[in-house]
Amino acid sequence: MQKILILDFGGQYNQLIARRVRECHVYCEVRPAASITLEAIREFAPIGIILTGGPSSVYSENAPTLPREVFSLGIPVLGICYGCQLMAHLLGGKVTEASGNDAREYGRTLTTLDTSCILFQSFPEDSVTWMSHGDYISHVPDGFAVTAHTAACPTAAMADPARKLYGVQFHPEVSHTIQGVRMLRSFLADVCGAQGDWVMEDYIPTAVAQLRRQIGQKRVLLALSGGVDSSVAAALLSRAVGDQLTCIFVDHGLLRKDEGDQVESVFSKMDLNFIRVNAQDRFLSRLAGVEDPETKRKIIGDEFVRVFENEAKKLGKMDCLAQGTIYPDVIESGRGPAAIIKSHHNVGGLPDSMEFQQIVEPLRLLFKDEVRELGLAMGLPELLVNRQPFPGPGLGIRIMGEVTVEKLAILREADYIFRTALEQAHMNAAVGQYFAVLTNTRTVGVMGDSRTYDYTLALRAVTTDDFMTAKWARLPYELLDEVSGEIINRVPGINRIVYDITSKPPATIEWE
Ligand code: XMP
Repeated sequence: MQKILILDFGGQYNQLIARRVRECHVYCEVRPAASITLEAIREFAPIGIILTGGPSSVYSENAPTLPREVFSLGIPVLGICYGCQLMAHLLGGKVTEASGNDAREYGRTLTTLDTSCILFQSFPEDSVTWMSHGDYISHVPDGFAVTAHTAACPTAAMADPARKLYGVQFHPEVSHTIQGVRMLRSFLADVCGAQGDWVMEDYIPTAVAQLRRQIGQKRVLLALSGGVDSSVAAALLSRAVGDQLTCIFVDHGLLRKDEGDQVESVFSKMDLNFIRVNAQDRFLSRLAGVEDPETKRKIIGDEFVRVFENEAKKLGKMDCLAQGTIYPDVIESGRGPAAIIKSHHNVGGLPDSMEFQQIVEPLRLLFKDEVRELGLAMGLPELLVNRQPFPGPGLGIRIMGEVTVEKLAILREADYIFRTALEQAHMNAAVGQYFAVLTNTRTVGVMGDSRTYDYTLALRAVTTDDFMTAKWARLPYELLDEVSGEIINRVPGINRIVYDITSKPPATIEWE
């Protein structure tokens, strides 16, 4: 398998580089530059190396660096931003510390490209790139030619084609760099000789072998939520270590219609120990009389940990805890905590009080859509793999006020009707998340000849890229009309339906 090694110097766009390389169907891995050795590089055997950007200056104390020999291994190297400056610095060029603001560039920048450079071939000479740097390269090392410049930056790109060493001061991975992906593709295909034939199926044996090495004969415990990440992690681990894996699925009774049974039917057939804990009574009794959203969230999170720990204790000593962490979570966790709007609870979270020798994160190199692709490649049902996000506290935060068995039954049916109608109208792919919320408002209605006094149900559908912001989805009136009629006719306890037309911000996606 052809592989690209991405050496990470801590830049904010580094995950995007990996993303772009894999979009070109070339496998890559990101490794921290600080701890890489020549032996590790040789063992990884990449067809090319990409050095990422980073916040340091090559002159600052403790600036991350590399053994100079990396550039004489005969492996093509592309340095991006800090990576480019480091290459220049280590090979005898000159990086100048920015003094004043004149040489600094941030944002979209008009850039003149030398179109005879293999990275920019058949590009227009004038282009726009995304810059984000203080220092700049004032002299390129011997053997290099300057292949791009801007008004403020004499070396926006440099190349030594004989040694297959390339550097760009700008960020080709950021979409604001026009043709940035094409530049990366040229590096991969024309410089490194990548075939671009990597597909997700190829990842499975690599990941399985790696997990076997990591886990050996140890026993692994996984909290399975039925969400995409923990499900795919379970499937991969089951392939790697079979019944050394135990999955505990805590059914807190706050799942959607049929969801618990679907999870059980998929995983009880796999080579792993599957334990379903039906804990609805425990959760509902702790939630009795509780109306405040944050209190509900805390209770559900806390009870989850208790049930999980309780069950885990019965199993005896487990060596490893597996988690469905995916690549964006790895990147996220490097950032400071943002203000807590809601205390998110992930059923895959690590209970603090439990001790494990090792944490296993089989998906930590994958993006969400890659996780889905992997799930499908391993034969998981589409229903599970393409599931929309569902909050850890489940319907507990989609029932306003106190959660009861009766309200859960009402919401499950109504939510199912709405989701099914949207899916049958093939609108689900365009809408990021869609669900029903049972409000605690009752209103007067008339059905047949009788007065009713029943709950108001809210329908929520949003379009979003990242769930940080979202727009309410412009669903067709006909669809809303059909859903409204069906819910009122089929679900006793609801006599009024409203559609939520608030975006995020100011509202959040969930109501609680
Ligand atoms: P909000 O409501 O904050 O939701 O706009 C953003 C996204 O996060 C999901 N969500 C959760 N996911 N545990 C989760 O795993 C939680 O406690 C939780 N609360 C909200 C929500 O469904 C949406 O996709």
